[in-house]
Amino acid sequence: MNQDQLKQAVAQAAVDLILPQLSRDSVVGVGTGSTANFFIDLLAKHKLEFDGAVASSQATADRLKRHGITVYDLNGVSDLEFYVDGADEADGHLNLIKGGGAALTREKIVAAVARKFICIADASKRVDVLGEFPLPVEVIPMARSHVARELVKLGGDPEYRDGVVTDNGNIILDVHNMHIVDPVGLEAKINNIVGVVANGLFAARPADVLLLGTAQGVERLERS
Ligand code: 5RP
Repeated sequence: MNQDQLKQAVAQAAVDLILPQLSRDSVVGVGTGSTANFFIDLLAKHKLEFDGAVASSQATADRLKRHGITVYDLNGVSDLEFYVDGADEADGHLNLIKGGGAALTREKIVAAVARKFICIADASKRVDVLGEFPLPVEVIPMARSHVARELVKLGGDPEYRDGVVTDNGNIILDVHNMHIVDPVGLEAKINNIVGVVANGLFAARPADVLLLGTAQGVERLERS
């Protein structure tokens, strides 16, 4: 199986997992990226079995709408049972690095509201220690240099993601060379830098379930 087939397999596993628990009133939180796109396309086959979705990015909202799925503003939704999204890295405690698609802030917001966060990823995303993938940080544009200097003090090597503007009108710094032994602590420290909007560590709110696509099939890991 190639990487896309593994992504498709976990996307199908996520649909199979949530579908029996959805009702005609349910609203599903949907993430961003190629794995989330597979999920959207597979979920769309069941669009009459739930009410609609909340999107973590404009790209996801556009794709959902193209399938005829109603997209709601998160502020108007009182209950979000599931959030389904991909990841750039996942450790054994289901802490994640996300934001490869620059949607980390909205992803974090939707994940915070959802009762269950189901992460879907191919096996290449599973790591023992987070940080091989550069950690994305969304930053208010005028604070770029200040935040970069503070990230260096934390041991990182920030790189401006040239030409990328987030859905919120901000920039992304990708922080290289972080060996993240304390994901919760580092997430909080980075959030405390003035000018940071959010960072791509999902450790204060990790995934609840990780569906991992492997050559042997889809592995299901639950947060203990
Ligand atoms: C977007 C994300 C994505 O979930 C992450 O980059 C994984 O993407 P893909 O499913 O394309 O591998 O965090 O901001």
